[in-house]
Amino acid sequence: MRVAHELTAHPHPDPLPEGEGVTTRWLRAGGRDVPLLAGPGALAELPRALAGIGFQGRLFVVADEHAVDLHAGRLHAVLGAAPMLTISGLEADKTVEAVSRVWDWLVEQGAQRRDALIAFGGGVVCDLAGFAAASYLRGIGLVNAPTTLLAQVDASVGGKTGVNHPRGKNLIGAFYQPLSVVADTDLLATLPTRAFAAGMAEVAKMAMILDARLFARLEDIGGSLGPEDAEKLAPIVARSIELKADVVERDERESGDRMLLNYGHTVGHALEAGAGYGTLLHGEAVAVGMQAAAHIAQRLEMLPTEDARRQTDLLRQLGLPLAWPANADGVLDRLALDKKRAGSRQRWVLAECVGAGRIRDDVPVELARDAVAVVTRA
Ligand SMILES: NC(=O)c1ccc[n+]([C@@H]2O[C@H](COP(=O)([O-])OP(=O)(O)OC[C@H]3O[C@@H](n4cnc5c(N)ncnc54)[C@H](O)[C@@H]3O)[C@@H](O)[C@H]2O)c1
Ligand SMILES: [Zn+2]
Repeated sequence: MRVAHELTAHPHPDPLPEGEGVTTRWLRAGGRDVPLLAGPGALAELPRALAGIGFQGRLFVVADEHAVDLHAGRLHAVLGAAPMLTISGLEADKTVEAVSRVWDWLVEQGAQRRDALIAFGGGVVCDLAGFAAASYLRGIGLVNAPTTLLAQVDASVGGKTGVNHPRGKNLIGAFYQPLSVVADTDLLATLPTRAFAAGMAEVAKMAMILDARLFARLEDIGGSLGPEDAEKLAPIVARSIELKADVVERDERESGDRMLLNYGHTVGHALEAGAGYGTLLHGEAVAVGMQAAAHIAQRLEMLPTEDARRQTDLLRQLGLPLAWPANADGVLDRLALDKKRAGSRQRWVLAECVGAGRIRDDVPVELARDAVAVVTRA
């Protein structure tokens, strides 16, 4: 059993810049110490954090044009002097052609290996710019400055970078770790409520399988949190990033522990694929998938009823769906094709209690069928 809340911050001799209300941590990523700055105004601390790790190169910004429109003042105040390329940030434009345009721009700008690319945007821009940084000159520095909650808590660490292929999502890419992560929670104020809730689903997922204390904190304040609560969000975002970074550092390539992060994603992905683009947000699908997983874990007498109830209550408080009407057979067909499957047995991430997850490959097919029926009932 995993007791992740015993993980402590990584000791490091150097202090990080302390902005008002900004939570700072040293993460370990790719065997390096990586400064994390999370909280209101965190972006302003970035230059000092980079100086602190000895970075002396030039900065180039690849930014989501929508995020730039919304936060131009803040961006220019901190990074005004850095050359900037804005891109659409749409999932449909997460392509190798878009990466190619970033490469062209970096060549024109004469970017060197000692320089760094800052990804400013949602998960699309972080993945795309991350891959450009990983591949240009066989790798220049990368700074993730995510502007959506989902990108802050999920796409900002873990090292997965890449783009879509016409035949499938995220088929092209590389593992590549950032020099620094800066999650400025002030930027979240402009997020639509639904996108915010969908980001919180990934936080709830992490808490359910890794951290009972984070879960309890969400139970206390989750229901009242909104996109504008930059200060209250700081420790929650920081803890989520730290948890993910820790799991990934133990298992970058997903042979074991990293799979835990797929909690709720088995059924979630199958629902998402069938729902049609834009109808069901990724985080919403994860919430429904968590409910399916809890159903299975309860039936296996692995997860106590009380803990399953706490998960249901938290997801409800966060404004997330607990079920999604869909054709159960269609969802089951897509489950059988889940790319996360190893060998012929479907692997499930299940919770043993609030705060601890485990991987099981012995879930009877009828039980999976039953769980899908429950969460897809209209
Ligand atoms: N690498 C990883 O580990 C990882 C993890 C999770 C998700 N992802 C990827 O992330 C992508 C999804 O990320 P996402 O949910 O951030 O979506 P996104 O990047 O598509 O952004 C969603 C929308 O929000 C807008 N936006 C960005 N910042 C905003 C702000 N501050 N206020 C208002 N609107 C803003 C964007 O312009 C966009 O229209 C997917 O491509 C997924 O594959 C990667
Ligand atoms: Zn996810």
